[in-house]
Amino acid sequence: MIEARDLKKSFVMGGSTLNVLNGVNLSVKKGEFLCVMGPSGAGKSTLLHILGALDHPTSGAVTLAGRDVFTITERELPAFRNAHIGFVFQFHHLLTEFTALENVMMPLLVGRKSAAEAKKRAEAELERVGLAGRTLHKPGELSGGEQQRVAIARALVTSPDIVLADEPTGNLDTKTGSDVFDLMRRFNRESGTTFIMVTHNETLAARCDRLVRMVDGMMSLTRMSKSDTVG
Ligand SMILES: Nc1ncnc2c1ncn2[C@@H]1O[C@H](COP(=O)(O)OP(=O)(O)OP(=O)(O)O)[C@@H](O)[C@H]1O
Ligand SMILES: [Mg+2]
Repeated sequence: MIEARDLKKSFVMGGSTLNVLNGVNLSVKKGEFLCVMGPSGAGKSTLLHILGALDHPTSGAVTLAGRDVFTITERELPAFRNAHIGFVFQFHHLLTEFTALENVMMPLLVGRKSAAEAKKRAEAELERVGLAGRTLHKPGELSGGEQQRVAIARALVTSPDIVLADEPTGNLDTKTGSDVFDLMRRFNRESGTTFIMVTHNETLAARCDRLVRMVDGMMSLTRMSKSDTVG
């Protein structure tokens, strides 16, 4: 359902070229919960940005929802992202001036849903993440775990085909991180939403359907099985 072929990404800085992705191939099935691990600087965030069409690769292709993503025009791309992709980041990236409810409504309003429908769906989604009693709180009035649950509600409210999560629990304590992960795993099972999650947490990685490791901008050849990843 999402496929990356021979993705390369380099940044040119002050006359020298930094090769960050060196030919990444990846195929993720619908409903799969994939985990990406790898040392800092391996290119995980860069990969996620490209898979989510937030950035262009230097070469290579991404296919998502039957479309060759980088043939979509800049004009159409925001609507394509809005319809198919949800993002969750390490730091929630919520809009601090808006309430939890408004934050979750935002992608629906951007997708031209009516305010009434957006409100109804955002309220339902916040209830699903256990925050029915916090809808009018602004991000600064929520705990870290609650903020991350709002971010998950915002990513899921449009019923995307895929959620791309970059260290979604990286900023949380072990218990809260585990709860936030459980929530994503539950939605993955309930709704069949595909997830790609970057994490440095081996315990959570072991609870994903599949784990791939990135080293120096490439998928490591040794794919560890679940039992290899703990301990
Ligand atoms: N916009 C940019 N311009 C120049 N170099 C960049 C840019 N974005 C990323 N890089 C470089 O690309 C490399 C990979 O960065 P990336 O953020 O993808 O790593 P990562 O695997 O997500 O690491 P971490 O685990 O620390 O989050 C790094 O060395 C970084 O300095
Ligand atoms: Mg990163």
